[in-house]
Amino acid sequence: MIFFFFFCRLTNVFDGSFSHVPMVTKLRNGRSVTVNYMTEGQLTEMYCMIQEAAQCGEGYGIDEFESEVEFRMEIKDSDCFSISCKETGELLAGFIIAVSKFYRGHGAMADPFVIVRRTVRLQSLGEFAMRTAIDFATYLGYFGMYVDTFTSNKAILRIIEKIGGFQKVGVLPVGGKLQGGQIVSSVIFIKYLSATKDTMKVS
Ligand SMILES: CC(C)(COP(=O)(O)OP(=O)(O)OC[C@H]1O[C@@H](n2cnc3c(N)ncnc32)[C@H](O)[C@@H]1OP(=O)(O)O)[C@@H](O)C(=O)NCCC(=O)NCCS
Repeated sequence: MIFFFFFCRLTNVFDGSFSHVPMVTKLRNGRSVTVNYMTEGQLTEMYCMIQEAAQCGEGYGIDEFESEVEFRMEIKDSDCFSISCKETGELLAGFIIAVSKFYRGHGAMADPFVIVRRTVRLQSLGEFAMRTAIDFATYLGYFGMYVDTFTSNKAILRIIEKIGGFQKVGVLPVGGKLQGGQIVSSVIFIKYLSATKDTMKVS
C-alpha cells in the first residue's frame, strides 16, 4: 500500500493529453515492441534491473538508490515508459523522463533514465529507448535534456554520439561510486529539444 503514495505521476498521462502511447513499432532487427506507460509491477522490474546494473558497474552507482522506496521517491514526478515484446509482453527495457536537478527551477530540463534488460542488450533497444525518450520529452514540452553519465559508460556514450545533437557541457570528477568502492567521474551533455528551442533565450 505504501507504493500508492509513491506512484509515478505520469505527468500528462492521466489527464489524457499525451496521446503517443501505446505505440507499436518494429526495431531494426525486425522485433515488434510496444511502448506504453509503465505499470506498478514494471516499475519494480525496472528498479531491479537498475540494481543489477549497479552491481555490475554499468551506468548506475552502487549507492544511487538505497531502496525501491527511495527510487520511487526520486522519480515520483516523472513520466515512466515501458518497452515490451509485442508477442510475449515481457519487459525488455524502460525509460523514465525525470525532471533534471541541474536546472534550478521546475520542469524545463529533462533527465532520462534508460535501461535495457541484460539478456537483450546489443539489439538496438538502448538506442531506440533514448531516441524515444528524446521524442517524448519534446512532446511533453521540455526545453532540453541533460544527460549525465559515467565516463566509463561506453554504451550510452556511443548512443549519444549516434543520435547526435548533444553538446558536452561539463565533467564531474566525483560522479558516483561503483561496486567495490571505486569513484567514477561523470560527463554531462545537453540536448536542446526542437519544439521549444526557439521559444526560450539561452545566453
Ligand atoms: C546503455 C544501454 C541502455 C545500451 O543498451 P543496448 O540495447 O545494449 O544498446 P544498443 O544495442 O542500442 O547499442 C547502441 C550502440 O552502442 C554500442 N554499445 C552497446 N553496448 C556497448 C558497450 N558495452 N560497449 C561499447 N559499445 C556498446 C552498440 O554497439 C551500438 O553501436 P553501433 O550501432 O555502432 O554498433 C544498456 O547497456 C544498459 O541498460 N546499461 C545499464 C544501464 C545504463 O547504463 N543506463 C544509462 C545510464 S546514463
